[in-house]
Amino acid sequence: MIDESTFTDSLFMYLPTGEPRVPLDEAADEAPVAESDRPVAVVTGGASGIGRACAQALQATGAIVVVADLRADADHAAARGSGLVQVVCDVRREEDVVALFDRVRVDFGRVDVLVNSAGVIERATRTIEQKVGDWDRVMSVNARGTFLCCREAGRTMVARRSGVIVNISSVAGILAIPGSNAYGPSKAAVALMTRNLACEWARFGVRVNAVAPGYVDAPMAHELFQDETMMRKALERVPQARLGTAQEIAAVVSFLCSPVAGYVTGAVVPVNGGWSALGSAS
Ligand SMILES: NC(=O)c1ccc[n+]([C@@H]2O[C@H](COP(=O)([O-])OP(=O)(O)OC[C@H]3O[C@@H](n4cnc5c(N)ncnc54)[C@H](O)[C@@H]3O)[C@@H](O)[C@H]2O)c1
Repeated sequence: MIDESTFTDSLFMYLPTGEPRVPLDEAADEAPVAESDRPVAVVTGGASGIGRACAQALQATGAIVVVADLRADADHAAARGSGLVQVVCDVRREEDVVALFDRVRVDFGRVDVLVNSAGVIERATRTIEQKVGDWDRVMSVNARGTFLCCREAGRTMVARRSGVIVNISSVAGILAIPGSNAYGPSKAAVALMTRNLACEWARFGVRVNAVAPGYVDAPMAHELFQDETMMRKALERVPQARLGTAQEIAAVVSFLCSPVAGYVTGAVVPVNGGWSALGSAS
């Protein structure tokens, strides 16, 4: 049980006095109803690409995995019965995200791991021609969605003094990529949110990290690589001169989720074949 003084002394030490308090302790009052001792992981965007690979990697470690996505995935449906549950959820919608985490708490008693992989990208556009609706769509899935899921998972994790969050940022959130003036800033927001939350929740035993992939052989990059010239040009930016795989991203996510990474928090880990080390985006 968390009392008011806990927050006064710790969590809110970084906030100006008089800041409204969030009733984070509500979750601690709920009776635990865990069905088993298996860790419980929520993976947003887990029906495809990197999120799907993360869900499979976490499942392989023995976790119960709740995949939250706009749509259900046939691969996961086939694996039902082995601790994988699919929930239809639009991470932009506060009511969906609140309902998701309420359901996870009721069904499993806790949330041990959250991986935020739900994301969208805009077509490369000159900013002077960019439509505000497209900009809003990208920011609302990538930044607002990540915020909402971190907040809801964090309420339970902080109350239980335990939990791990891994956000999928991007090299586009580190380097300038002209023509990507919604996606890049949304991923920079994810990276900074990661650092902020890591510092805010460290004393509650909650670790928050991110990965920054480059070009990954996963659906988001597929359209770009329909064109061989685009592909060749893109790979000139990557010292390893190849695409990453979703499994290579998931392996790092899985490490960050594991107790082996117990002293890692606030990190945005580059998993991009050296692209962010080289630093050239054009
Ligand atoms: N593929 C890449 O090259 C690459 C590189 C860097 C970062 N990333 C990031 O990795 C993540 C996954 O990318 P991917 O290539 O696997 O893409 P993907 O399109 O295969 O997967 C994204 C998933 O997010 C889901 N989604 C989209 N909007 C949603 C919403 N509002 N609510 C819930 N779910 C939603 C989609 O249904 C899809 O299943 C994204 O956050 C992306 O920005 C991808």
